[in-house]
Amino acid sequence: MKAYCIAVIPGDGIGPEVIREAVKVLNAVAELDGGFRFEFTHYPWGCEYYLKTGEMMPADGLEQIRHSDAILLGAVGYPGVPDHVSLRGLLLELRHGFDQYVNLRPVKLLSGAPCPLKDAQPGDIDMLFVRENSEGEYSGQGVWLYPNTPREVVIQDGVFSRMGCERVIRYAFELARKEKKTLTSISKGNALNYSMVFWDQIFGEVGRDYPDVETHSLLVDAAAMFMVKDPKRFQIVVTSNLFGDILTDLGAAISGGMGLAAGANLNPERRFPSMFEPIHGSAPDIAGKGLANPLAAIWSAGQLLEHLGYPEWYSRIVATIEQMLTMRQNLTPDLGGNASTSACGDAFVALLS
Ligand code: NAD
Ligand code: IPM
Ligand code: MN
Repeated sequence: MKAYCIAVIPGDGIGPEVIREAVKVLNAVAELDGGFRFEFTHYPWGCEYYLKTGEMMPADGLEQIRHSDAILLGAVGYPGVPDHVSLRGLLLELRHGFDQYVNLRPVKLLSGAPCPLKDAQPGDIDMLFVRENSEGEYSGQGVWLYPNTPREVVIQDGVFSRMGCERVIRYAFELARKEKKTLTSISKGNALNYSMVFWDQIFGEVGRDYPDVETHSLLVDAAAMFMVKDPKRFQIVVTSNLFGDILTDLGAAISGGMGLAAGANLNPERRFPSMFEPIHGSAPDIAGKGLANPLAAIWSAGQLLEHLGYPEWYSRIVATIEQMLTMRQNLTPDLGGNASTSACGDAFVALLS
């Protein structure tokens, strides 16, 4: 029987709590399917590890998990370790080190999910964000000159390479073509006269290879407004790293909240393992209390199954989440229920079976 090796990095705060449920679901899926199984290896990397060792993961961390079939990650970051140290040292190191240049984030309002938009129906919010995930505003480049003097100067560089823009835009076009959907590029060329003018230019160039795909271009400020006022206009969306980060939290807010927002960090060429993680963080405000909603992590585990070649399991997982939402039982407090994280996961598995 096919065995998949999954590297599990539960991380910090609610990370371990939600990942426990995602692993539970993956094991249940393997049992129900009968055609494959999972071998999970857990890595205790994160902020506690940092406080003990001075690093977020071992120096050969990437080497240790390079040959996994996929990575399942909870969340990184916790008070006590500066965020830029913890995130640069683990999450961003994994995304960059494994060249996971596509961050795929579905923004889909399921039946039964709470939505703050007046009149929005489930079919009205069904987008797929393709976020550039390897460079842009997240390049980590810059300088900090003359610290703590009146001359102090800070420069944070955005790095937009032709290869980096082209590959993620092409990925989005391929997806739009395959799914027969429109593609919207979100940028900000009116103010960012180098990076975003370049992005728009490449979007136009790549688009010439896809005359069959209907395209739209929006400035990011207007895009944020339309996501609230007229979300129907978005299907596949491609955007830069930082804009994608911000807009997908907005996407989470209009499609049920952080507890329902899933994401995949993909290396499409499969030279390196891809990584699956909910888009929420470690939620220190609710950590350790059994309050965290595991459905985002479970949805991300569904993306992992799709990546391994089981799209029918992805669909079944999303359908089961929707079933839980419409039944209004065994939901966590963020969705108006009073179930614990593990009770929600158990109910999910029972429903799936
Ligand atoms: P957050 O996503 O952790 O929390 C924002 C709000 O959403 C909080 O009120 C939280 O309780 C709620 N929330 C998040 N996930 C939830 C869930 N599954 N169920 C119920 N409620 C949930 O964002 P933050 O507070 O800005 O960041 C906390 C820490 O996490 C910081 O260190 C940040 O850098 C880090 N972070 C990590 C990731 C990641 O690892 N991918 C993502 C975002 C933030
Ligand atoms: C996310 C997170 C990360 C990001 C942070 C924690 C570095 O917010 O995955 O959305 O900005 O990419
Ligand atoms: Mn984010």
